[in-house]
Amino acid sequence: MAQPPGDDGESLHPGLAEPRTKEDWFGYVFYDPPPRPLLPSYEVYLAMSDAERRRLNRSRNRYHSALVLAWTPAVQHFEIEIMELLAANEMAPPGARLGLLIDGPPTVGKSTLVKMIARKFEQELREDFPERFAPERLGSYVPVVYISLTDQVTPKQISLAIARYLNVPTSGTKDTIDDRVLTALTASGSQLIIFDDLHFLDCSLKEGRASNDHIKFLANHAPCTIIGTGVDLENSPLLSEGGPTGPRTRPARTRIPVPAGAGPRTQTAGRFSRQELAAFTLDSDDSILQWVGVIRSLERSLALYRHEEESLTRRHWRYLHERTDGSIAGLHALIRRSAVRAVQQGAEAITREIMDSIVLSYAHERAYSKVTELKSRQTATEAKKRDRKRPAAGGSA
Ligand SMILES: Nc1ncnc2c1ncn2[C@@H]1O[C@H](COP(=O)(O)OP(=O)(O)O)[C@@H](O)[C@H]1O
Ligand SMILES: [Mg+2]
Repeated sequence: MAQPPGDDGESLHPGLAEPRTKEDWFGYVFYDPPPRPLLPSYEVYLAMSDAERRRLNRSRNRYHSALVLAWTPAVQHFEIEIMELLAANEMAPPGARLGLLIDGPPTVGKSTLVKMIARKFEQELREDFPERFAPERLGSYVPVVYISLTDQVTPKQISLAIARYLNVPTSGTKDTIDDRVLTALTASGSQLIIFDDLHFLDCSLKEGRASNDHIKFLANHAPCTIIGTGVDLENSPLLSEGGPTGPRTRPARTRIPVPAGAGPRTQTAGRFSRQELAAFTLDSDDSILQWVGVIRSLERSLALYRHEEESLTRRHWRYLHERTDGSIAGLHALIRRSAVRAVQQGAEAITREIMDSIVLSYAHERAYSKVTELKSRQTATEAKKRDRKRPAAGGSA
C-alpha cells in the first residue's frame, strides 16, 4: 500500500484502529504485522553497544506487541460457517439469504475473528479475480463492508456508516441515504457486510422495532451476507421482542435460551442463525487441548534468548487459564506484556515470576483473585481436616 509522504511505513498499523472506510479496510487487508527480527547470537547481543541493543529491542517490542493471531478452533469453525454462508448466498434470490450472529461476552475474540476471516476471504478473491482489483477499477470493487457500531446506533446512523464506508454522499433523508446505500452495495459487488458490536444497536423499546426492521431491510435488499457480532444478542430485540417488561430489564449476559412464547419472534430472528463464542474452559480433554494449542502458537512466536521451549505450554497452561479466565484477550495481553518485560529486564524468558508481576485488566484480576481466594480457603480447610485427624498427644510431626 502507498505510504503517506514522510512516513517510514513502520509506524502505521491499520490493525490498531477499526476500519471506517473501504480505504481503511484495504489497508487492513494488505497490512502485515511487524516481522520477527533476526536475532544475532546471545554473545553478540550482549556485546552490542547500548544504541544497537536499544534498536534491536525496539523492533523486538514492536514484534511482540503485535504477536501472532492464533487461528484457534473457534476461528476455524466460524471460517467454515461464514465461507459456507457466502457460497450458499451468492446467487440466492432476494429475501432468502441467511445471516449469522456471533454472540459472546467481551474479550473472547469476536471482532478479531470476523476481521481475520473477512481479510482472508478478500485476499483469496484478490488472488482468484485479479481483474476485479485492477488499478483502473481501484476502489470500485468492495467485497467486504466492515461496520463497527458505537454507542446506541439508530437505523439512520447505520446507513450513514455504510455510506461513509463506500464513499457515497451522506446528505438527505434516511430514505434517500438507504436508497443510495443499496445502489452502492450492488455496484460495489459487496458480498459480505459485517456489523461488529451489534449490541450497540438502539434496541430501546421505542427504537427496537425500527432497528430490527432496518436490519431486516438490509438483509432483504442488499445482495450480501450479513454477519453480526455482539454481547448478549440472544436477549436483544433482534432475536426476540421480549416479554411484557421488555428486553432491557433482563439480566445481562444470561445464557438461558429465551423460552418459546416468551416474546414474538422478530423479523430478523427468521433471517439469522445465532451461535455462541465463549471463553476457553478446561472442563474436558478436548477443551484443554484447545487452550494448550493456543498457548503453543503464541509461545512459539516469541523472540527471546533464554526462554525455555514450551514452558508455558507444558507447565503454565493451568496458571494462564486462571490468570486470564480463559479469555484470549487476557492471554494475548499477558504474553505480550511479559515478553516486553523479559526483554526490558534482561531475563530473556517468560517465567512465572514475570507473569506474576504483570497487572492485567480489572476484570481478569478480579476473576483471578477469586480463584486464589478459593484455593487458599480449600488449603485451609484441608489443613484443618488433617489437624483434626491427627492424634492429640505426641507434639508436632
Ligand atoms: N485469534 C486470536 N489470536 C490471538 N489473540 C487474539 C485472538 N482473538 C482475539 N485476540 C486478542 O484479544 C483481544 C480482544 O479481542 P476482540 O476480538 O476485540 O474481542 P471481542 O470482540 O470478543 O471483545 C485482541 O485485541 C487480541 O489481543
Ligand atoms: Mg469486539
